[in-house]
Amino acid sequence: MNTSEKILYILESNKDSYISGEDMASQCGVSRNAVWKAIKDLREKGYEIEAISNKGYKLNADTDIISAEGIRVYLSENTKNLNILVFDSLNSTSDKAKELAMKGYDHGTAVVAITQSEGRGRKHHSFFSPKGGLYMSIILKPEMLRNTDSNVVTSFVGNVVIDAINELTGIEPYIDGINDLYVDGKKICGILLESGSEFDSNTLQWIVAGIGINFDSDISKFPKDVKKRASSLFDTGKATITKNMLIAKIIENITNRQP
Ligand code: BTN
Repeated sequence: MNTSEKILYILESNKDSYISGEDMASQCGVSRNAVWKAIKDLREKGYEIEAISNKGYKLNADTDIISAEGIRVYLSENTKNLNILVFDSLNSTSDKAKELAMKGYDHGTAVVAITQSEGRGRKHHSFFSPKGGLYMSIILKPEMLRNTDSNVVTSFVGNVVIDAINELTGIEPYIDGINDLYVDGKKICGILLESGSEFDSNTLQWIVAGIGINFDSDISKFPKDVKKRASSLFDTGKATITKNMLIAKIIENITNRQP
């Protein structure tokens, strides 16, 4: 982690309280000046950081910017060290995750993007992926799964996402279609599972679970045909949890449970 990432981790872990520049400097093993530079850098990235002399710095509690550090704050000891890659924009988090899976990245590696330019759904449908949504893909390794039957893994991932949403918000989505999640008759989440195998030995090598959630998305700006059937977990600006919290809960549930 570079200094800005370390400072962000500290601020995300202490969202409700002030932490002095001196404390942060000693925790990161850097100078006060380096802390100040990191704060400046984070503010430029859009983080609202309050500063009060004699008290220190505090990240605005409403801040909901997706970051690996912000996700890691909510992970438990056994998941804290998983690879988490966050991008401002990708064509598709699943394409990136597949590329990494082929390079041998570990079970539980998560790829997250704030927007996708070519989000993909089942049957070559596109998945509209503007800001406000949550787009992530997780690499699953067959040797880490008790069951790799496609129906079983598909329903496992759907249920894990339902539980994550329910545990954090009390909302109870249900599965409709192959693995779409609905609330009150409208789709709030699409899930796409893809896999790679060694053809000649017919050996499954990796599965990529791609999850797209309309989190606090402005549905009125969605394409006409999607708008009719889609909804968002929260109205824009009315979320009671952050995207980082939900991403962490999904990672946690997927990697700690078994299909
Ligand atoms: C569907 O509704 O048919 C499935 C949609 C899956 C969308 C997610 S968003 C994250 C990941 N990246 C993609 O390109 N697709 C999945």
